[in-house]
Amino acid sequence: MTGTLRLSTSREDTILAAGLLREGGLVAFPTETVYGLGGDAANTDAVDRIYSVKRRSATNPLIVHVHTLEHAMEIGQFTETNRHLAHAFWPGPLTMVVRRNESYPLPSSVTAGGSMVALRIPSNTTALDLLSLTGRPVVAPSANISGRISPTTARHVLDDLDGKIDAVIDGGECKHGLESTIVWDNRGSIEILRHGIVTRERIEDLLGRQSESSGRGRLPASPGQDDRHYSPVTRLRLDADPSGFRTPGVLRLGFGEHDSGADMNLSMSGCLDEAAQNLYAMLRELDRIALDSGSQEITVSRVPATGTGVAINDRLMRAANRA
Ligand code: TXA
Ligand code: MG
Repeated sequence: MTGTLRLSTSREDTILAAGLLREGGLVAFPTETVYGLGGDAANTDAVDRIYSVKRRSATNPLIVHVHTLEHAMEIGQFTETNRHLAHAFWPGPLTMVVRRNESYPLPSSVTAGGSMVALRIPSNTTALDLLSLTGRPVVAPSANISGRISPTTARHVLDDLDGKIDAVIDGGECKHGLESTIVWDNRGSIEILRHGIVTRERIEDLLGRQSESSGRGRLPASPGQDDRHYSPVTRLRLDADPSGFRTPGVLRLGFGEHDSGADMNLSMSGCLDEAAQNLYAMLRELDRIALDSGSQEITVSRVPATGTGVAINDRLMRAANRA
């Protein structure tokens, strides 16, 4: 591979990107959540290369992206509840873990050898066009080096993966900025394996019953939910006294008007959706400022734990974990 092609969202470029995927290439593309690193899910070499360029553990399975429910239902077995969720939230930021159909040809590396497969139909129009033109299921983990901050712009993708992947489609900033919610129908009990943009409240309202958040050690675990994740290089401290942030060498990421003196602010108006959209970009930017200025620490406080705030706090806790 000679370099990473920079592509636009034009029809011509999307066709070119689909061709690269069909030939076994790796193409990063925008989704409504974060940028994904796409590869043909049926091509063992492409899947292996994804694990290798991301430096991802082979025990951490990948999400398979498709553009129709029919295709998803060929790959996995959908319960009544899965169908209900699909009709309500697809295309969109929801991933469902279902039993895989053994007759559908997928390399076992996609599911890390397991009998469950994660499926998602994204709503971003470039992503949908790309999937439809490729005509194959596409695995797409977030397009970052494992453990680092997920990318919400093409620039972020290139910062981690320039020269290591075949192309990136620049679709501007991702609409939501946080990964999809992952759910599993555990015989009628809906378990949230990863909090995300589709909130617990919306799922419970739709199904008319309560959900559970999976503790670690339950099956199927989402192995990517290691405690340390989404981390800047600089130490991130959670819930430090906000008044102490003027300490030299400490940068502050604020939220809401009362944090207006912070170095960056997730949302001055206290809007959680805006905060989600800004979170990863601001963590990356503060990390860069810290490295340039020799700052040792970034401090941030938890946001209100309602709606998207649950997913934001989840990512902040993991980013701050120095395990
Ligand atoms: O929003 C998203 O979901 C983005 C965009 C690009 O679609 N993708 C994404 O992929 O976040 P990734 O690989 O960064 O995170 C996928 C998560 C991991 O925590 C992984 O362990 C879990 O999904 N996962 C994948 N397959 C699974 C399975 N069969 N069972 C349980 N968890 C699974
Ligand atoms: Mg990821």
